[in-house]
Amino acid sequence: MTAVKSVADYIRTIADFPHEGIMFRDVTTLFADPRGMRLCVDQMLHPYAGEPIDKVVGLEARGFILGGAIAHQLGTGFVPIRKKGKLPGTVISEAYTLEYGEAIMEVHDDAIQPGERILLVDDLLATGGTAEAGIKLVERLGGVITGCAFIVDLPDLGGRKRLEGLGFDVHALVAYE
Ligand code: PRP
Ligand code: ADE
Repeated sequence: MTAVKSVADYIRTIADFPHEGIMFRDVTTLFADPRGMRLCVDQMLHPYAGEPIDKVVGLEARGFILGGAIAHQLGTGFVPIRKKGKLPGTVISEAYTLEYGEAIMEVHDDAIQPGERILLVDDLLATGGTAEAGIKLVERLGGVITGCAFIVDLPDLGGRKRLEGLGFDVHALVAYE
């Protein structure tokens, strides 16, 4: 009998990418599998069943793939939060620090209306810097964060504690210590 695969079974780990010492959790293998992708989207949405959500916000780049699928499933719109210089309209920006570098995230200033309930999604939570920048952008536009959903949590890097410490609801499907 073949064992039923869990989301974790579809994720590949690549050592020393993009820098020595980083164990890169590669979700492209999960996205490439039809069962894996559906399982992932269904499980990410499970904690929010029955919750009113107006828009899904996805963080560049893998949060776009997930966020589009999740928004389709919920029947909501999707808003991308992008790295600096990629969005064509008027934007607001937030700088943040990564596990390996620094960056600026942007969102169109008319993408979220005050009071809209937002589900923030990304593939992975490490230090939480990216997600916190995303949350700040949403809140600056008047959006209300309903939850933050990830496939992978790296608890040793402190992102979950950081977001929960700020009072946000965090869900992840797989944790790598
Ligand atoms: C990865 C990942 C998250 C972020 C998590 O993206 O997809 O967005 O890092 O790290 P943090 O919790 O420490 O902020 P990356 O910055 O590699 O960008 P990419 O998706 O555009 O490759
Ligand atoms: N983003 C930040 N850290 C990461 C990791 N270890 N694997 C994949 N994406 C990441």
